Formats: sequence, structure tokens, C-alpha cells
Amino acid sequence: MTEKDFELPEYTFDKEEGSVAYKSPSNIALIKYWGKKKNQVPANPSISFTLDACATTTKITYKKLKGAATDFQFELLFEGTPKPDFKPKIKTFLKRSEAYLPFLKAYHFKIETSNSFPHSSGIASSASGMSAIALCLMAVEKDLYPQMNEDYLVKKASFLARLGSGSACRSIEGDLVQWGRHAGVTGSSDLFGIKYPYKVHKVFRNYHDTILLVDKGEKQVSSTVGHDLMHGHPFAEKRFAQAHENLDRLRPVLEQGNLKEFIKIVESEALTLHGMMMTSHPYFILMKPNTLEIINRIWEFRSAAKSNLCFTLDAGANVHVLYPENEKEVVHQFIKNELVVFCQNQQYICDRIGFGAKRLY
Ligand code: PMV
Repeated sequence: MTEKDFELPEYTFDKEEGSVAYKSPSNIALIKYWGKKKNQVPANPSISFTLDACATTTKITYKKLKGAATDFQFELLFEGTPKPDFKPKIKTFLKRSEAYLPFLKAYHFKIETSNSFPHSSGIASSASGMSAIALCLMAVEKDLYPQMNEDYLVKKASFLARLGSGSACRSIEGDLVQWGRHAGVTGSSDLFGIKYPYKVHKVFRNYHDTILLVDKGEKQVSSTVGHDLMHGHPFAEKRFAQAHENLDRLRPVLEQGNLKEFIKIVESEALTLHGMMMTSHPYFILMKPNTLEIINRIWEFRSAAKSNLCFTLDAGANVHVLYPENEKEVVHQFIKNELVVFCQNQQYICDRIGFGAKRLY
């Protein structure tokens, strides 16, 4: 599919008003997306677990304007309160989407959004937030173009979410989503995420992710700046090639449920992401001392308890602890006994693999 496939034939804006709502989850990458080309095209393919508990709920109420406006007409409420500082990001997203959603300047939109996780938790809400808005706008388009089928709606929602925040395109469906063209994965695309099309061992169907909130402050480096630092990065090409290799390595691991190999790939990906940030110009250390304390405790516990828990990181100090269902009790105990002391205000979020966004109405 190409960008052109996301432009529908001309249709009329017959509906005067309506409202739609979606709940859309966050996701955690196993193979990381870091670096992008023009138009939000990823420099390398990535794959993620869709999450369940960490989600954004968004409602869009739309009302037809008297005449087409010259600019987008929208208001934004975050947890019931107007949020002017979120508006520029939404405006950029609407601008990028305009070529694919012809009705955007014909309506006024009231966007009401809230997160299931505490704000300022250091958890990026862009994946769940942007995917929820993209889905709502697709629901509006379906109101105007009812013959649209569900498959198209889902693909185009992922395509649009990507224009808001790259990783958001992996938050529409579950439970494993791949984004970015990769020769080894049939149907993969740079333009949208797809459900991972190969066999996945049942051990991964109910995997857990406990997110340890090490640093709840603003991100030190925005992901936009981080992606940009991969331009001209001395190790960029090798890293992009490695992501392809890791995807190939992951395929039999996912199929066979080989947790030992899973751990090696996932932890190495997390540390490589941080390695890229440490070796760029300017350079950044996004981990905090407590991030390292946690990683060391995880390694000690894994070896002593013959456990299969492992960690991954996003572009910040928080630690995602991944483990299979049958280890849930021992790992919870370990987290409470040994890791919680390294969390800011002892806070952590128990999440697990999820199955994608849900339409609420
Ligand atoms: O979607 P963005 O532009 O915020 O980038 C997210 C990048 C990482 O979270 C660090 C990795 C990933 O693949 O999700």
C-alpha cells in the first residue's frame, strides 16, 4: 500500500454533528524504533507488545461549521481542563493528516482526553494519546463514509497515528505489532503497524510488564530530538542493520517460546537504544542511578532464582520489567521486596500484554 491508498474517493460531509470515543493503549517496544526519515518513516523496523492498563480515553464531539474554515477549529480538554500547551502537537498532527481526512476544516472538534496512568509519571502518553485521536477521527470519517470497512479503518488509523507519533501506530491492535518494512515479515510497511503475522508461543500471550517509575519528571530529551540525533550518528547504519537482524532472530524465539534468547534480544535492544543516546552529539545519559540499581538487582535475581524476568527501557529512566504469567507471584514479591525502594515515591504500575484499542461509542 502507498500513501495514496489512504485518500478515499471524494465524499460529502452530510452529518451535522456526532460524537465518537475510543480507549487506546500504550505499547512497549521489544525491538526499538530510534531514528526516522522524512514523513515519519522509521529508519528501522520495530516490534512491540501492546499494553493493557496504560491507556488513553478520548472522546471527539464534532459539529459542522457554517462554512469551511481557513484553519483547524478545535478545543482540547485534558482530564476535564483546557490544555493549551497540548494544542500545537495536535495542530501539527491535523496538518499532517489533512491530505487524508478532507473533512478536518469543515467541522469544529471538541477533544476530551484522559489517561489511565498518573500524569507526570514519566510514561510517554504519545502512543496511547495519538492512537486514540487517530481512531476517533477514523470513526468520524466512517460516519461520513459508511461503506468503509473495518480493515481499512484499522490500517488508516495506524497510518494516521504514525503521523502524530511514530510508535503510536503500534497501539491500534494487539498483542504484538510490527512496524517498518522488513524483508523477513510479509506485509510489513513503513506506513503503518501490522499484527505480527507469525506463530507466537502461548507463553507470550499473557506476558506481564510492571513499570517501575524511577523518574517521574519531564523527559530530559524529547523523542523528536532523540530521533534527530541519529542523523549523522557514527553508529547509525550499523544500528539500523542490527534492528533487522534482531527481528530475524526474534522470529524463532517468539515461535518456540525461547525465553533465554528473548531476554538476550530484549535487554540488548534497550541498552543499545541508551547506547545510541550516550554516543550521539550532543550526548545524553537517560538512565538514573536507580535505573542501574534495578537492572543489577534483576540480573542477580534472575540468576539466583532461575527466573525469566528481564527488563526493557524506553527513552527515559523508568524500567519495564517483563515476565511470564507463571512467575507472577515470585516476581511481584521480588519487586515489592527489592525494587520498589528505587522507585520515586515507591510507585509502579502493573500492566500486561493487551489486545488493542476499543471503541466506546
Ligand atoms: O513515537 P516516538 O517518536 O515518541 O518514539 C518512541 C521511541 C521509543 O519509545 C524510544 C522506542 C519505540 O520503538 O517505542
